[in-house]
Amino acid sequence: MSLLLDVIKEAEKKKTAVGHFNISDLAALKAIFSAAKSLSLPVIIGVSEGEADFIGRKQAVALIRGLREEYGWPIFLNSDHTHSFEKIKEAVEAGFDAVLFDGSKLPFEENVKATKQVVEYVRSVSAGRRSEILIEGEIGYIGGSSQILKEIPAGAAIRDEDLTTPEEAAQFVKETGVDLLSPAVGNIHGMFKNAPNPNLRIGNIEKIKKAAGVPLVLHGGSGIRDDDFRAAIAVGISVIHINTEIRLAWRQALEKSLKENPEEIAPYKILPAAVEAVGSVVEERLKLFNKLI
Ligand code: G3H
Ligand code: ZN
Repeated sequence: MSLLLDVIKEAEKKKTAVGHFNISDLAALKAIFSAAKSLSLPVIIGVSEGEADFIGRKQAVALIRGLREEYGWPIFLNSDHTHSFEKIKEAVEAGFDAVLFDGSKLPFEENVKATKQVVEYVRSVSAGRRSEILIEGEIGYIGGSSQILKEIPAGAAIRDEDLTTPEEAAQFVKETGVDLLSPAVGNIHGMFKNAPNPNLRIGNIEKIKKAAGVPLVLHGGSGIRDDDFRAAIAVGISVIHINTEIRLAWRQALEKSLKENPEEIAPYKILPAAVEAVGSVVEERLKLFNKLI
């Protein structure tokens, strides 16, 4: 069994959630790692297709492995929102610890078929050892990108009738064999500038958890109210993804740092402000996910 699955199972048992945070650069990685380490918590680093193309998949693996080995720390790398079989293959070959095949925009049956193909491939390369590389599947489209929103993303499942049902969740897990499931439960990618995100459907999460029988992942964590997080974790969310809040903190701190030091050109003197700002976001989220506040 993979170490990451152990970490997630442990969270499931304790009714806490493992934080999953996305990065595009070293400043964010540095911030996330220090926050996790200072709180003595495991952490998952996510790179979407765009983020992975920017950093380089092998380079991302080298960075995460480097930290894991040097500090003996449970830090893992996930190929977040991977839409094609080819990109899944690139991530697996590079040495990622987990992959999310995102077929959520496909009709349900096609999503099942494509996800199943990914599961078969990943199992075959992990020498038949189940869950050596974790595979997450996603049902229900919740919007495409981690950005500041003006309105609910077009096509996002937010009305009751579009949300993931317990029956769909059970069927999806049974037919695909995924290790982790990400359902649409009122969550959306991105956040509003001056308002919280829509409320999560806690009752739905509870029913989906019972029906699916695998750990559940909550995407679109930015902008969700603290009490919604607490309730969602209590009924079965074991991993939570945060990205927009990190991007926003990074950008605002960078702008401030540049403004305050107009003559400075050394990146290592400009970027610590971004590291600090991202670090505080991550620390607060990790504390909440682990019942420390
Ligand atoms: O996979 C990434 C997350 O779901 C991020 O969502 O940008 O709304 O925090 P967020
Ligand atoms: Zn996501």
